Amino acid sequence: MRIYVSKDYEEMSKKAANIVAAQIYLRPNSVIGLATGSTPLLMYQELVRLHKEEGLDFSEVVTFNLDEYIGLPERDVNSYHYYMHNQFFNHINIRRDNIHIPNGMASNIDKECVDYERLIMVQGGIDLQVLGIGKNGHIGFNEPDVKFETATHRVKLDEETINANARFFQCIEQVPQYAISMGIKTIMHAKKVLLLANGSAKAEAVFKSVYGGITPETPASILQLHQDVTMVLDEGGAQMLGRSLANYNIDNALNRLQAQA
Ligand code: GLP
Repeated sequence: MRIYVSKDYEEMSKKAANIVAAQIYLRPNSVIGLATGSTPLLMYQELVRLHKEEGLDFSEVVTFNLDEYIGLPERDVNSYHYYMHNQFFNHINIRRDNIHIPNGMASNIDKECVDYERLIMVQGGIDLQVLGIGKNGHIGFNEPDVKFETATHRVKLDEETINANARFFQCIEQVPQYAISMGIKTIMHAKKVLLLANGSAKAEAVFKSVYGGITPETPASILQLHQDVTMVLDEGGAQMLGRSLANYNIDNALNRLQAQA
């Protein structure tokens, strides 16, 4: 795992955009997995700038988004379809039929999940998967659980995630309770993973993902087993990484002993 700590959100976003751009320069027909949320917004802006000012060419790039809410039509401003077109796809020269986002309005969600997974395979798998991270350590919409979910699947969102995402909606009741998400297996099969996290609210999730035990209670911790992960953080996101691994393990062991007592 490589970890870059940038001084702020802007620097983090440029670094992330450069990593994505390098992937495309090296392999113009790359399959890129994309994330939504507030974290990658500036990365997308920088990629748009690289396209417009420096000729970064998306004409052969294929994309797969991580997730989508169930029940929001594409034109809904809170759907990830809307987000991706508005923030990114409308401003670059990607071919529309190379864009893939799970269809949260599908009449048969289980079939949609199976088809989505198959489509990724048909394209030869994901070359570079961009991830954000939830405060609870979720990646995509893989929420903390007792098991690692496998392929693309339907998820019930955690209360914490619904609360966190309520800021984009008029009221919390409007936040969908269910989503389609690539699974942990889908993400782990990506050849490279690029995880972004900024702000101190993410520091604990980042810390547990890097130094904690590998557990489905912190879904991102599974990335410790991936052979090619790059984390790009700002100082806020990285602020707990200064503690030593030994200290963290001792704390963990103490907590476990106390819980057993
Ligand atoms: C959302 C998305 C994730 C995203 C995460 C963090 O719920 N499903 O893909 O990475 O939560 O979001 P944000 O970047 O807004 O903090």
